[in-house]
Amino acid sequence: MSQPTERQSRAERLRRLAETGRDTDMGRLLRSFWQPITLSSRVEKGRTLPLTIMGQELMLYRGESGRAYLVDARCAHRRTHLHTGWVEGEQIRCIYHGWRYDGTGQCTEMPAEKNIKPAQIKIGGYPLNEYCGLVFAYLGEGMAPPFELPRKGVFEREGCLVIAREQTWPTNWLQQVENSLDAVHVSFVHQAGKVGPFGAAVTATVPDLEYQETNAGIRQIATRGPGNVRISDWTFPNNNHIIVPNSNIGDPWVDIGIWNVPVDDMATSRMQLFALPVAPDSPAGKRYIEEHRLYADYDPVANHEALFRDRKFPAESPLALTPAQDYLAIMGQGRSVDRSAEFLGESDAGIVLLRRLLSREMDALREGRPAKSWKPLGHDADMHAPRPAAE
Ligand code: FES
Ligand SMILES: [Fe+2]
Repeated sequence: MSQPTERQSRAERLRRLAETGRDTDMGRLLRSFWQPITLSSRVEKGRTLPLTIMGQELMLYRGESGRAYLVDARCAHRRTHLHTGWVEGEQIRCIYHGWRYDGTGQCTEMPAEKNIKPAQIKIGGYPLNEYCGLVFAYLGEGMAPPFELPRKGVFEREGCLVIAREQTWPTNWLQQVENSLDAVHVSFVHQAGKVGPFGAAVTATVPDLEYQETNAGIRQIATRGPGNVRISDWTFPNNNHIIVPNSNIGDPWVDIGIWNVPVDDMATSRMQLFALPVAPDSPAGKRYIEEHRLYADYDPVANHEALFRDRKFPAESPLALTPAQDYLAIMGQGRSVDRSAEFLGESDAGIVLLRRLLSREMDALREGRPAKSWKPLGHDADMHAPRPAAE
């Protein structure tokens, strides 16, 4: 067989970054971190919720005690989806022939079997943590690492208002992560159609860019002139944190944490936490809750035709306009971009660094070498990072 050409092997290296199935290098890397998989509010007591995460079929259910459990979706017997079954106490019963499983995936009853024992049968069960309205799961091998959020300090401020949201876009996960490390896009994408408060805060000036690897991930410094320095600390491997102006002039800026979690290689859930350092029942808190009620349900996917064909943008609230603008640019690349056909420039330094870190860590895992021990960003790091000048 002929040797692969340089272009083929480059294409292969780039494709490896985007694929997240269970047996892929990136799939193993992403699974070695806690990942948010859905909103806590989507699964009520005694109910089940089918989910797909990184191409893996899973089943989330909430026991009668209120505790949530995550197991493999399919019954070990004849592969019926356990979502079609029902919750019994803290366990789940398959609809088809009644095999029952506990929250670790251990089978505990097989009503029609005399010669095989439930102890012989186990499906996958995964540790969970519910935090700020999101359900986090550890889908990797071995013991789960300690549950550490990148910005605990921001989301755990006393009396702080935190709102969780989830939206799924039909593109590969890496396009969305790369967008987070592409500060130039802000000067174009967020001026497109309408300029909302977010676009206005950064201006159309193309920034000077600097990207540094940190203990947590990548720090991105975009300077658009004296007093307009935008710093974002992106957390390895798929979490971004940004601070954006509040639409209600004079109210505090909003901290947003976004995880881009692959549903499969052609769709990505954007799991988001919005935090405002005010009490929910304060005037600013009430205004922000009302803005979420009015605008946060805007879904660019449901408005795809309006955006692509008619360039019809939603209201100026950053909760609707900002994602609509990002959606146009990211979906404009296609659902899974061919990176081997790109032509990168010096302003793509963040994307180059991101790919280098992801490849380095995937290689370490594959070769059994120690991966980098990433540290969560603490409250201190947030406080030391200069805030946008307009704050
Ligand atoms: S398929 Fe689940 S018990 Fe038979
Ligand atoms: Fe954006």
